[in-house]
Amino acid sequence: MPFDLTTELLARQQTGLYRRRKTVDSPQGPDMVVNGRLMLAFCSNDYLGLANHQQVVARFRQAADDYGLGGGASHLVVGHSRAHHQLEEALAEFTGRDRVLLFANGYMANLGVISALMGRQDALFQDRLNHASLLDAGQLSGVRSQRYQHRDVDNLRTRLNKNDSWRKLIVTDGVFSMDGDIAPVTALAELASQHQGWLMVDDAHGFGCLGNNGGGVAELYGLDQQQLPVLMGTLGKAFGTYGAFVAGSEALIETLTQFARTYIYTTALPPAVAAATLTSLEILQHQGWRRVHLQELIHYFRTGCEQLGLPLLSSSTPIQPLLVGCANRSVQISQKLYDQGIMVTPIRPPTVPKGTARLRITFSAAHQRHHVDRLLDTLAMPSVAALITDEHRERV
Ligand SMILES: Cc1ncc(COP(=O)(O)O)c(C=O)c1O
Repeated sequence: MPFDLTTELLARQQTGLYRRRKTVDSPQGPDMVVNGRLMLAFCSNDYLGLANHQQVVARFRQAADDYGLGGGASHLVVGHSRAHHQLEEALAEFTGRDRVLLFANGYMANLGVISALMGRQDALFQDRLNHASLLDAGQLSGVRSQRYQHRDVDNLRTRLNKNDSWRKLIVTDGVFSMDGDIAPVTALAELASQHQGWLMVDDAHGFGCLGNNGGGVAELYGLDQQQLPVLMGTLGKAFGTYGAFVAGSEALIETLTQFARTYIYTTALPPAVAAATLTSLEILQHQGWRRVHLQELIHYFRTGCEQLGLPLLSSSTPIQPLLVGCANRSVQISQKLYDQGIMVTPIRPPTVPKGTARLRITFSAAHQRHHVDRLLDTLAMPSVAALITDEHRERV
């Protein structure tokens, strides 16, 4: 029976790995209407609370009046609007890079960059826990890929020492999307330079959240264009809109413009999204209180979890995963929280390694302390806490 899809689907259900969508009838925010029910949500990547910010939405409306809705064509045909251009220039200034290129989204940016820069003779070194789009990009480009141990600079050094490829690219998430920890980017930049290679950072979860001005890991660790030649960010998370960008040298951006197939062969982002992102960028840079507030919430939550003895992973970013282990158990806990009106997503294999299912709790500057109190109170309920700690005890 060549196309017996139901058996595979059934197997997925039995192992607790089945995914189901929920339907949302409200903007992103702490309070969301999900499947027709008012929920307190801790699972969006809208870290700064900009996805439904009045000024961002107003700019979008205005730009939709000016440009209409659709991008209409690819950037290289007739889809590259003034709004796209202004956003690229503003992002170049923000990141301190020569130039920026916009992509339709982060997944496509990663596919485009890696396949434009790397070929069969080259070597790509990826952190084991890199985002799926980076791993897929390695496969698509046909490059010889290696995955070094998570955040393990010595393991990477050993691999680099043994490799004599002409071009070497080290690529890492800036903030790991399912773990919330930060890559050792300074050490990675040094290694790249010692081996005449390049470093690429996908800072999808760092931009807006880290650094005094929201410039992400590059700002936090002061890495310039030479140390970090390929800097990628997404616009659908802290920026609250949609799309992605790559920042780097003139030569890098021209290379991507000529050779990145996911840039060339796709319709440009709607110009109004680019215009709205310009407003997001202004807010992100100038309203530092959003990052301060976010850090306060994170600290408050971590202290609360510590008092409850809950197994939080070590993270200083808005991604605060509670380790569960068993995939089925993570679904059960998420359902218990859902029953109490709280949305937290269970993250299971293959998104994370087997045996490391977790609840991915995320915070936004739009949350308030009373929201965190409600989450902590719910996690402390005996029926919920027991499910988390029993599972954890079995593991340790
Ligand atoms: C680290 C990382 N890179 C890339 C992406 C993809 O970005 P986008 O959603 O814009 O496609 C994501 C998540 O969506 C991510 O977490």
